[in-house]
Amino acid sequence: MNRIFKAIIRRIKALFLSSTAKRHGLVGQPELWKIKRDFQINYLKSVGLMPNHFMVDIGCGTLRGGIPLIAYLDKSHYYGIEFRDFVLEEGKKELKENNLEQKAPVLLVSKDLATLEMNAKFEYMWAFSVMIHMKDEIAEACLLMVSKHLANNGSYYANVNIIADGITNPDQLEGIWDGFPVVSRSLDFYKTMAAKFNLKVEDVGDLKSLGHNTSIEKQDSQRMLRFSKI
Ligand SMILES: C[S@@+](CC[C@H](N)C(=O)[O-])C[C@H]1O[C@@H](n2cnc3c(N)ncnc32)[C@H](O)[C@@H]1O
Repeated sequence: MNRIFKAIIRRIKALFLSSTAKRHGLVGQPELWKIKRDFQINYLKSVGLMPNHFMVDIGCGTLRGGIPLIAYLDKSHYYGIEFRDFVLEEGKKELKENNLEQKAPVLLVSKDLATLEMNAKFEYMWAFSVMIHMKDEIAEACLLMVSKHLANNGSYYANVNIIADGITNPDQLEGIWDGFPVVSRSLDFYKTMAAKFNLKVEDVGDLKSLGHNTSIEKQDSQRMLRFSKI
């Protein structure tokens, strides 16, 4: 009953959403799109992203986070990778509506990160709310891709759900979002996986302490991980 009630409320709210919010509803709660957008550029700038850097946004979706990053970075320095082509198409419309096509971001659909080859090295690699939706083998493919494309002094940041070591959570599966799993893993699990690709991991802090404030505990308490070369 509660679920049905929530679904009805969502439908009523949807009637009043802006077209932008509806678009970004493809990648999360529509009413949170601006908070999620602002957090991404503010955080990346706070950890040193400069216009002349190259960055890749893994799972860039509708360019909810991508638009201000594309505006900030030099021409063609932003790369966006997305699994779902119809979602990236919405991102391209968003790019056009924001008059940013002249910044010529490189936008790619990729169904397999393990085989993705970009002829570039990135100072910043970024996956916002994406690794939490990757099964183990896809997370491994992602780290392989990161290890191939990360500049020597570069950083790969990803927010994740962390559970304590030793908690038994077969498949680490917590639920499903839009056909993707929602997973939690221990920090040790990430450390072991990263080491396979000569990467080390540091837990930077919870999202709330880094400026992400949605008042939704489950989201604000996610941890930001920084992967870098060993
Ligand atoms: C929660 S959304 C976040 C989108 C974007 N990072 C943002 O914050 O606006 C996660 C996105 O990652 C994409 N995704 C999931 N797995 C992926 C994969 N293996 N490769 C590329 N994109 C993926 C999904 O299609 C979805 O658009």
